[in-house]
Amino acid sequence: MTQTFDSPADMVAALRPEEPVYCLRPHELRATAERYVSAFPGTVMYAVKCNDDRRVLRALHEGGVRHFDTASIAEVKAINDQFSDPHCHFMHPIKSRRAIAEAYYDYGVRTFALDHEDELAKLVEVTEGGDDLTLVVRLEAPRNQAVCDLSGKFGTTVEDAADLLKAARKPGRRLGLTFHVGSQCLAPSAYLRAMELAGRARDLAGIDLDVLDVGGGFPVPYVGTEPPPFESFVAAIEEGKALIGLSARTAFFCEPGRALVAGGCSMVVKVELRRGESLYLNDGMYGSLSDMKFDGIDFPMRVIRPDGPVSDRLTGFHLFGPTCDSTDSMPGPYWLPEDIREGDWIEIGQMGAYTNVLRSRFNGFHARSFTFVKDPAFLPTREMLPNKPRRRVAA
Ligand SMILES: Cc1ncc(COP(=O)(O)O)c(C=O)c1O
Repeated sequence: MTQTFDSPADMVAALRPEEPVYCLRPHELRATAERYVSAFPGTVMYAVKCNDDRRVLRALHEGGVRHFDTASIAEVKAINDQFSDPHCHFMHPIKSRRAIAEAYYDYGVRTFALDHEDELAKLVEVTEGGDDLTLVVRLEAPRNQAVCDLSGKFGTTVEDAADLLKAARKPGRRLGLTFHVGSQCLAPSAYLRAMELAGRARDLAGIDLDVLDVGGGFPVPYVGTEPPPFESFVAAIEEGKALIGLSARTAFFCEPGRALVAGGCSMVVKVELRRGESLYLNDGMYGSLSDMKFDGIDFPMRVIRPDGPVSDRLTGFHLFGPTCDSTDSMPGPYWLPEDIREGDWIEIGQMGAYTNVLRSRFNGFHARSFTFVKDPAFLPTREMLPNKPRRRVAA
């Protein structure tokens, strides 16, 4: 049973948790899902990899999400276990034969991504001809358009995508294109550019697309980052549709992860020791803070001290996680009250995306406490000081 509190501060006052606690906000998750589902001119599929917690999935489903971008057979199974009306799209471009077979024969999955002719051969062989497949070719999006670049591993050139589409063409089959502009993409124009590439691949292949999927990547506010609203991305996407003359019969998808779930969870961590301007926390890069370490994501933070006030004056701190690995550190400076001390808790906001799914059990640390909270998402404010100048991304 997941306990409910009015806020993370109330949770701390009641439980005084010794381990990190995820504070889920189902109302925020539902509201964000509703907003995306109604604003996007097509179908929103949620990228399950971003946060696969059943409570998170349930709230998104309540908000109207019915389609899921699944990257593995485990995700396909989990979605089928939880919902009676699942629509899973297997959007990982490289899959094992066993995963394809299970998805196709046991779970009725018909949409598969690919970016190589050998994957096409695999899909056709395993599904014994694959006459009823929807095959979605992944294009490589231009690089350096997002805080977390996703190019370099998956995706083909426009020319190779056109060849793959031609090779995949067969009566009964549906064909499509997809791309991912990179996660936390701050520039709506990145979608327009990638859609132009999709238009070129389609024209070179000489086909009418059955599916166009503009991927994920939509951004959320972090400290020092005020992204354009989702509506600006929708406007760029609409412009892209007009620019490439997308046919009205093309099924249109997006696959957001981060943007749907970041605000739906805060995490409460405890300060175990203060050494000068270093704080040793009970969570770190092997837990839920790896985006802080590797992508320089600057989450909003506030101190929770149930027994008294906290100073208004700020000092820049270096943060350390709980494991014995010296790389388990986040250099900062992270601006926190100058009198922060052992025994204080810190609420970290915008923690619904790529957090609990990435935690390990390294050194025996593994956060497993989840609560619900009823307050609004803990968002950054303009007054919060960024830990360092933001990385530049293409405009
Ligand atoms: C294929 C695919 N779709 C969607 C997503 C979700 O991206 P984001 O969380 O940036 O929206 C990812 C993230 O890695 C992905 O690989």
